[in-house]
Amino acid sequence: MKIAIIHGQSHEGSTCMAARELANKVGGEIREFFLPRDFNKSCLGCYTCFKTDLSNCPHYKELEPLVTAILDADLLILESPVYVYHATGPMMSFLDHFGAWWMVHRPLPEMSGKQAVAIATAAGGGMKSTVRDMADSLEMWGIHKVYKLGFGVQATKAEEIPEGILRKIHRKTDRLACRIRKNVGKRGCNGRAKKWFYLMRFAHKHFPPMEPDYSYWEKQNWHGKDRPWHQA
Ligand SMILES: Cc1cc2nc3c(=O)[nH]c(=O)nc-3n(C[C@H](O)[C@H](O)[C@H](O)COP(=O)(O)O)c2cc1C
Repeated sequence: MKIAIIHGQSHEGSTCMAARELANKVGGEIREFFLPRDFNKSCLGCYTCFKTDLSNCPHYKELEPLVTAILDADLLILESPVYVYHATGPMMSFLDHFGAWWMVHRPLPEMSGKQAVAIATAAGGGMKSTVRDMADSLEMWGIHKVYKLGFGVQATKAEEIPEGILRKIHRKTDRLACRIRKNVGKRGCNGRAKKWFYLMRFAHKHFPPMEPDYSYWEKQNWHGKDRPWHQA
């Protein structure tokens, strides 16, 4: 089992602790990246990825190790502390680079063999919107199973988390690790991305073709009988 953790901050606090706890319980080879330490670029809005390919992104040299780790992983964990009710700026800037991977553009069939988790911790509130910030991308990339974990830790440091909340973190990561292990090796597509796949397929057939997306889908035979979640 290959696991990639992308931390939305460069320090090892409560969120990092929860993400590592889950990864260790799932077990396997773990690779970790910290943002902005390991990738600190903001999307330039040049549309190169949409018009050509992500590999032509002006930031691709810095992005490539993270892309490789994501593509290699069976399980991807994105985590972020809640900063003003949302994921950190570095996490959002990182995710901005993958718009072309969304189901409405040119999704990667290998995403259907992966599972992912979005994890957030907050002192009190904002876990739901923060987890959603990360899960939006994971789902729209077409990842098979996307799980969400949010913890209100009543603390600004991991060492200050009350005992009862620590127990809740242990219990929830135990349960999720079990579910993840059961689903290893299965292929599929989450319901949200599947709905968008069929909407785009309809649009491709009834409206003027948008390139290079249309030709990409044509090559994969997605206008025909093949589906991203059926391909090896
Ligand atoms: C800039 C900033 C903004 C924050 N915004 C919120 C917030 O909106 N809601 C909240 O409950 N906690 C907020 N917090 C607290 C952190 O989310 C919380 O302490 C979190 O558990 C820290 O995780 P970490 O130890 O992984 O950094 C904020 C902290 C910082 C530094």
